[in-house]
Amino acid sequence: MIASAPGKIILFGEHAVVYGRHALVSAINKRCRVKVKKAGDFRIKSRLGVTGLDFETHPYVSFAIKRFDEVADVKGADIEIESEIPIGSGLGSSAAVIVATLKALSAEFGVDLNNEEIFEIAKKVEIDVQGRASGIDPFIATYGGAWLFPERRRVDVPFSFFVVNLGEKSTAEMVSKVAELKNRHPEVVEKIFDAIDLISLEASRNMGDVEFVNELIALNQSLLRAIGVSTPEIDELIARFERGGLVAKITGAGGGGCVFGIYTGKKPEGSMIVECETEGVRVEEE
Ligand code: MEV
Repeated sequence: MIASAPGKIILFGEHAVVYGRHALVSAINKRCRVKVKKAGDFRIKSRLGVTGLDFETHPYVSFAIKRFDEVADVKGADIEIESEIPIGSGLGSSAAVIVATLKALSAEFGVDLNNEEIFEIAKKVEIDVQGRASGIDPFIATYGGAWLFPERRRVDVPFSFFVVNLGEKSTAEMVSKVAELKNRHPEVVEKIFDAIDLISLEASRNMGDVEFVNELIALNQSLLRAIGVSTPEIDELIARFERGGLVAKITGAGGGGCVFGIYTGKKPEGSMIVECETEGVRVEEE
């Protein structure tokens, strides 16, 4: 069986959402496809290589199998992963691979899991690998669409986005970097999270207004820089965009990964254009 799940773009609120603040997130039209076939043993094939059950090379898929094994007895499976979502870039490739794997496993092994069950298992897998996580990535990979968290309110996002990938980063590392800063300066960091919270809320109420949303993108980026998840390379790129009249921010954990802005017909060199996606995880035709 083949299943696919979309990546995501965090428009506002990354990191702050880990501490209960609002975030605004949309699924994007880049998907991860996972093919699962019953077998005598485990074999996982992806861009990262060919392995058995391997918690180093394929941690997300391996933990997904381990968690799925709690609801169904899985002796072995041949698993092939193809993804349009760049790995470790902040576009939700990890959550998409977890969710698509769970859906393909449930279809192949005849276990009826609804979306909420898939999301709940995927959230556990994300925590197995990363430690602390808000759960927004697996939620979006499961349900698709654009949402305000934590209340799960649908938001209409009438834009497409340009995205520049500055290379791989580790979400777990960035999340613990923010946790350390918060331990050293709890009151300051809480206030920054509060400001990010208000940005996400304001954006959710004014999504149609490009100028207003761009102001919020610039504000959110400054606050991400304040909590230490930007890099000199990201700062330079954003400054270059600003000189050309474009506004951009990190999406996801930062420390590298992707920077995005609203696409209004000007496509920066080396960028890709992504559209919002309404459909979440699905079983594909063979
Ligand atoms: C990662 O895509 C987003 C973070 O806010 C972590 C999380 O929400 O789990 C950095």
